Amino acid sequence: MNKITVVGAGNVGATVANVLAHKDIVKEVVLLDIKGDVARGKALDSWQQAPIDYYSTRLVGTENYEDTANSDIVVITAGVPRRPGMSRDDLITTNAKIVVSVTKSILQHSKDPIIIVVSNPLDVMTFAAYKASGLPDTKVFGMAGILDTARYRAFLATALDVSPKDIQAVLMGGHGDTMVPLPRYTTVAGIPVTEMIDTATLDAIVERTKKGGGELVKLMGTSAWYAPGAAAAQMVESIVKDENRIFPVCARLNGQYGLDDLYLGVPVQLGKDGIEKVIELKLNADETALLKSSASHVQDVIGTFKGMNLI
Ligand code: NAI
Ligand code: 2OP
Repeated sequence: MNKITVVGAGNVGATVANVLAHKDIVKEVVLLDIKGDVARGKALDSWQQAPIDYYSTRLVGTENYEDTANSDIVVITAGVPRRPGMSRDDLITTNAKIVVSVTKSILQHSKDPIIIVVSNPLDVMTFAAYKASGLPDTKVFGMAGILDTARYRAFLATALDVSPKDIQAVLMGGHGDTMVPLPRYTTVAGIPVTEMIDTATLDAIVERTKKGGGELVKLMGTSAWYAPGAAAAQMVESIVKDENRIFPVCARLNGQYGLDDLYLGVPVQLGKDGIEKVIELKLNADETALLKSSASHVQDVIGTFKGMNLI
């Protein structure tokens, strides 16, 4: 694959472009924003980092969709982030219009790209991009689970005083307070986490993870970008290298987990064609109940999106 476009050159978009360039796995990264000079400036700054950090990926900044022509993958980060006191769902009025219009503009210049949505409220914005694009659902999905799982893994690494490299975990559900971390599927170098940590500490980490995005908004006055940008770039890498890595991804469900025509975080295999496979875990009754409750919350916000009549 040769060309990746990142729409939105703000905190997250610029980080995605910069992390991708460091991976040195594609020829060109186009950074598009309605603020063309900001996109051009950040692309130029990242390109000037290439001789220092040794990569060849070209970065181009623009406000013009013609420059995105024939993109293989498009990462959509355009839209407003939340401010203290706001939930992700509060962003829907502004961001739904942006995501629908960005998706349509992209499709005018790239025939069948893979689209990775980052804008919030994530599950619903991914649904919006899918409906606006007319692409198969294997090619339109969203980034949240890698980030939420990374937060959970980082908190566990701190509590256990081990390397985060050794913590493997999966987390499901919507990108919000109803997300479902799964301690039963969490290991530390292959050892079940429940053998390494007491229940009260683990429960506190699960709760902190659910509010992990809000914790950063409170600290910084806007939402996070380093881990979100790296997470989206990791998804691009698995596709570009056809690695078939398994990640929690916001994917469209067609009957899996008893849910239909709904975007929700589930483990998937990511390869050159996008979602190669949705993995169905054998959840127990408690986990299933949490997932259903998360799905029902996302379904309500999808209802708000449908009521906006943008498609
Ligand atoms: P930001 O405000 O730093 O950047 C957003 C950029 O989008 C701005 O540069 C703005 O000019 C641009 N933009 C707005 N309308 C546009 C349009 N129609 N076309 C092209 N560009 C447009 O915001 P930040 O921090 O980069 O966050 C971006 C989005 O990502 C927010 O909705 C935020 O909530 C979401 N987010 C999602 C995460 C996830 O896990 N899925 C994690 C972190 C952020
Ligand atoms: C986050 O979780 C705001 O969704 C963004 O950091």
